[in-house]
Order: sequence, then structure tokens, then C-alpha cells
Amino acid sequence: MHPIGVFDSGVGGLSVLQALRSELPHERFVYFSDAGYAPYGERDVAHVLQRSLAIGDYLVHRQGVRALVVACNTATAAAIVALRAAYPALPIVGVEPALKPAAARSLTGIVGVLATRGTLASEKFQALLQAQNPKVHFVLQACDGLAAAIEHDDAAQIAALCTRYTANLGRFGGTPGAVDTVVLGCTHYAFAKTELQKRVGPDVTLLDAGQPVAQRTHKLLDQENAANLATGASEKNQIWVDLWTTGTVSTLEDAAQRWLTDCGPVRHVALA
Ligand code: DGL
Repeated sequence: MHPIGVFDSGVGGLSVLQALRSELPHERFVYFSDAGYAPYGERDVAHVLQRSLAIGDYLVHRQGVRALVVACNTATAAAIVALRAAYPALPIVGVEPALKPAAARSLTGIVGVLATRGTLASEKFQALLQAQNPKVHFVLQACDGLAAAIEHDDAAQIAALCTRYTANLGRFGGTPGAVDTVVLGCTHYAFAKTELQKRVGPDVTLLDAGQPVAQRTHKLLDQENAANLATGASEKNQIWVDLWTTGTVSTLEDAAQRWLTDCGPVRHVALA
């Protein structure tokens, strides 16, 4: 069975891969980290679009993927339309900040959104924001440097940036005027959840999009009759994910060892 391709600018998409793995335990995945050309969130749209199309081409033609998950909010905003136009027959799933679920669960009606500068500035995000319940107030915060700090597992920088950016969202808790729900609008931020939770307090819900993306992927594969339901022994013995990076192998290796179980080796790929 052909694998499912998953890509991000770096290690962030591993948070989506975790959810995909538990939703689709019999699938094989190819994970692509574009760390050699990251971060995406502080680059212009043309760069992210060009990188996403190059990665799509690599995953479709060189890895033979039968579905594609864009495990990056910034790349989804910049390139999902172009990817769908390039591969009309391929199931393609993107990730976007979970504004709707956040608005539905917020009792104070004040929701914080942490995302990259690129995501917040995108037309796609602005349209998503306009489509929400007007009674809910969204406080937006671009988190320059946070994805890079998480990518390099720089604990001091992660702590400093989490403090700075959560402070900008305002007051937290369940009382009127306080933020009671925070959307993690970048797949990297799921790996800073503990740090973020410490700052916003235990009563605030942090929402990422890993699980909804995994469920959507499952549904699309079912529609195509392409979900792998096999449970044979050979499947179990197969390596479930191949990992590739345009950046430093040890960075992705360390993150994969930390966040995934029994994955295959990490290899470098040059993709100009
Ligand atoms: N993980 C990416 C996202 O979800 C962006 C990180 C970056 O800036 O490269 O937006």
C-alpha cells in the first residue's frame, strides 16, 4: 500500500503525525521536514508556496504517496489551493487554526490565537476569522521566533517567548473579560503545551488541530476506499514512518525519538 505524505517546515508536523498514527494505525507514512528552508512563518508567501509545491512534487513523484497532509498552518494558508490544483485526484488535507471549536467551547467569549505572522496575515486566515460568531472576540498574537526555538529545543528561549506572547493575550480564567480558550495555530506550538499551560493556568483550554486533521484524513481515505485496514503480521513488522529532512538530520532524529515510537531512520534529502 502506498504511504501517506505529511510535511511541515520542521518538527511541528510530528504533532499531527502522532494523531494520524493513532487514528490510522495500519498506515505507512512519509514525513518531510523542510528545516533547511525554515521557518516558514516569517518568510514571504512566494517562498512558502514554492517550497510547498516542490515538496508536493517530491512526495507524489518520488515517494508515491496516495494522500497528502499539509501539517503546517502557514503552508496550508499559502499553498493548499495550488496543491489541490496541481493534484486534483489526490486526497489533500490541510491544517488551520481551530477557531470554530474554540468559539464553541469558550464561555467568556474571548479566545486567544497564537500563530505565525504568515498565518495571521494570510487571506485564508482572515476569511476564517470573518466566518466566526461575531459575539466571540479573538485576540491574535504572532509568535515570531517560537517555532524556531521549539525546532532547536532551546528551553530558555521557549520559556521566554511563551511568557511574552501569553502575557500579550491579556487576563486568563473563567471570569468575564478573561481569555478561557487559546488556539495553538502553529503545529510546532503543540510541543510547547506544558510551558504554555503553566502560564495560562489549568482552567484555560489549549486547542490544537492534530486530531481533527487525522479524522478528516481518515474520512477522505474511507471515501476513496483507500484506508488500510490490514492487521497482518507483515504490516506490524513494517517500519510505519520514513523521515526525511532538508535540514539537520539530528534535529529531526531527536524530535522523532522524543515524540514518536519505533520510527524508521531519518535521512537527508536535497530539494532545491
Ligand atoms: N509549523 C508551522 C505552522 O504550523 C510553521 C513553523 C514555521 O514558522 O516554520 O504554521
